Amino acid sequence: MKVGIIGSGGREHSLCLSLKKSQKITKIFCFPGNAGTNSIAENVDLDVNNFEKVKNFVIKNNIEIVIVGPEKPLVEGITDYLKKFKIKVFGPNKIASQLEGSKIFTKKLCEKYKIPTAKFGIFKNIKDSEIFLKNSNYPIVVKADGLASGKGVFICDNFEQYTFAVTEIFNGKFGEAKNILIEEFLSGEEMSFFIISDGKTYKKFGTAQDHKRVFEGDKGGNTGGMGAYSPSRLENEILDKKILEKIIKPTLKGLKDLNTPFHGFLYAGLMIVNGEPFLIEYNVRMGDPECQTILPRLKTDFADIVEACIMQKLDKIDLEWDYNKSLCVVLCSKGYPEKFEKNIEIQNLDKIKEKNNEFIFHAGTLAIDNKIFSNGGRVLNFVAKSNDFKRCRAKAISLINDLDWSNGFYRKDIGYKVIDK
Ligand code: AMP
Ligand code: GLY
Repeated sequence: MKVGIIGSGGREHSLCLSLKKSQKITKIFCFPGNAGTNSIAENVDLDVNNFEKVKNFVIKNNIEIVIVGPEKPLVEGITDYLKKFKIKVFGPNKIASQLEGSKIFTKKLCEKYKIPTAKFGIFKNIKDSEIFLKNSNYPIVVKADGLASGKGVFICDNFEQYTFAVTEIFNGKFGEAKNILIEEFLSGEEMSFFIISDGKTYKKFGTAQDHKRVFEGDKGGNTGGMGAYSPSRLENEILDKKILEKIIKPTLKGLKDLNTPFHGFLYAGLMIVNGEPFLIEYNVRMGDPECQTILPRLKTDFADIVEACIMQKLDKIDLEWDYNKSLCVVLCSKGYPEKFEKNIEIQNLDKIKEKNNEFIFHAGTLAIDNKIFSNGGRVLNFVAKSNDFKRCRAKAISLINDLDWSNGFYRKDIGYKVIDK
């Protein structure tokens, strides 16, 4: 079977590696991929925003299944477009992708199906939003409605910060804003919870803990994710049951009621407050870097799972997981998530040999004439698996030290809540 993967991050490299392990897979194409996928798949250099070009390539090369990694093409309707040409796609359609594409869509669904989430208000202008303020305490959370790559969320401690946030959003900093979302601040511990769904059945697909802030001790600005570990330290059967009953099942029912059952990975970003789950946000895809910690723990053939989802036979598959834990440290370009330089050579990478249970996934890298260059903010992901998180982190960091890339920086404290208690 030939498959195509859309995307170019560490998540897509890990998807690629999991597929490659399957006997079923004869060839993988990545659109556009990175220097890591280049060595196990054929990177296709075309504009993935141009769905017609993707479709033409897929048909011409007899690609049987297209897996969509990132949210943007999903929210823009790549699944609907490709399916019109009888191409099989793993990923939700445009309406279901509103779960990530519109925070207001999700909040309304939560309201209708009584899904626990932060109390909220939706407002058309700053004046009306002040009504919500009168009945709330700081900090207060202000959010832009649409996709904002992890930005567009402000946690405001006073009226000045609040006014600044609302003004930024209404001034169009995150795209045209007709509405704004104001939320109460939930104090607890975050957890990333994943399921996979074929539209009929769903299965849990692991948990992880991301580290979104750029600096150690969870300080500094938000990033795409500086590292993760799996499973989340909060995971247990009682909490799982609450998450599935109170959050996942009503969401899937809500989508079915809209006549748009969910296909693909669904990622619930949760806040666990005194043992109770609250939905912070949905993503309609795997997390990055969570995926890089979860897939190496999967024992079941990933191609079988994807195929079963396409055929709506997920109920016939048992998911088996490695009991080992895993942890990922992201090596970034100095300056990320603000200004950083690109096109800096990464030497030594070919000299590092990943041992058993060690993985180096590429993210923002580019191969030119057998040399590898940085090409983004998050550059490489170092993942290690073992029965102990501390050992995982030590192994990942030891690989980074072996690389010794002078333009890179990383958080040395990934997993601190579970390791350095
Ligand atoms: P979001 O893009 O909605 O996931 O928000 C980004 C980050 O802001 C989350 O990962 C949380 O750390 C934080 N956040 C968002 N909403 C809330 C909330 N209501 N209470 C506390 N923290 C929040
Ligand atoms: N790691 C956060 C995300 O994938 O959105």
